[in-house]
Amino acid sequence: MSAKEVPFNKPYLTGDEIRFIQDAHHRGQLSGDGYYTGLCSQWIKNNLNCGKVLLTHSCTAALEMSALLGNLSEGDEVIMPSYTFVSTANAFVLRGIRPIFVDIRPDTLNIDETKIEAAITSKTKAIVVVHYAGVACELDAIIAIAQRHELLLVEDAAQAFLSKYKDEYLGTFGNLATFSFHETKNIISGEGGALIINEKELFVRSEIIREKGTNRSQFFRGEIDKYNWVDLGSSFLPGEIVSAFLWGQLKSAFKITSTRIEYWNEYHLAFSSYEAKGILTRPWVPSHCTHNAHMYYLIFEKPDVRSFFIKEMKDRGIHCVFHYVPLHNSPFVKGKFPEVQSLPVTERVSDCLVRLPMWIGMDQSLILKHAKEVLNCI
Ligand SMILES: Cc1ncc(COP(=O)(O)O)c(C=O)c1O
Repeated sequence: MSAKEVPFNKPYLTGDEIRFIQDAHHRGQLSGDGYYTGLCSQWIKNNLNCGKVLLTHSCTAALEMSALLGNLSEGDEVIMPSYTFVSTANAFVLRGIRPIFVDIRPDTLNIDETKIEAAITSKTKAIVVVHYAGVACELDAIIAIAQRHELLLVEDAAQAFLSKYKDEYLGTFGNLATFSFHETKNIISGEGGALIINEKELFVRSEIIREKGTNRSQFFRGEIDKYNWVDLGSSFLPGEIVSAFLWGQLKSAFKITSTRIEYWNEYHLAFSSYEAKGILTRPWVPSHCTHNAHMYYLIFEKPDVRSFFIKEMKDRGIHCVFHYVPLHNSPFVKGKFPEVQSLPVTERVSDCLVRLPMWIGMDQSLILKHAKEVLNCI
């Protein structure tokens, strides 16, 4: 990529990360659950006003912990959107659980809450929602369904750190919730994530699952005199260097979010006339949701218009990309669950959506100049 090209993503560094990494090095504890893991977990808990926070090495790990914590077993079913990252489903399929895919709403691109109840069977044990682009799902309706059918609710909030639904932070609504701090997200640590446990009864088991199935966390707190293998588990915690990096980001998390919102608003204004002309559809954020500007996307009427836009932008050095390939149409799902039905909104959105560069420091006026030139040819 030449110096003049605009990549789709560039990780933003606050400049504090290296200082905290050096300090972690001096402190001498490099394995997990040291000083910086404690600071980050406390920051998230205090600012989100959520339940227990366990840092993980990825959102994928936090989702896998959710599948273990939910006490789901082989043959159970979990309802989720197909328009999501593979980890949302994989975490459960790894435990022999069957994903049941529900279509998305054409406006927010989140799971269509009006279609969830029809997908519930006697085998359904959980609903996993994904807050796409950092915009909340219709949580009031979804929580009511989960309570009515006594289902576990997991928020896959990978993209939704510091977004809100009706003035409460995402990650505080589900029995469990997961965040990603992968370098493509707003707040990053390279790879990284967190599991939020909002259900007190799951606190002890969540620590055990994260520590290889042992009660080592209780031992380190001096609550027991030796630790033992007591349950299923794996190694889901990040080392202190990763947590130190994350601390360098969390201290600027609100500033990072507000800067991204300025870019998002600039895009939104610039594309309004094209939406009015019927060339594209812009993202929609319900008035009761506060988003975190994780992503800016456009949806075209037809896939070939989307391909034209991506190619023309690439020729001008601006890298725009499509997003999720629906899981229900993936080779894995087609091979394992061949009877899966088509999901028209998911398929159309996946074929027609393009994401624009969104990172702090990008030359937005250059991107918009080229985007407008390309859109004027459509
Ligand atoms: C909705 C969703 N869930 C889970 C993940 C996995 O996150 P991680 O890379 O931190 O494992 C992603 C990654 O982009 C995602 O978009």
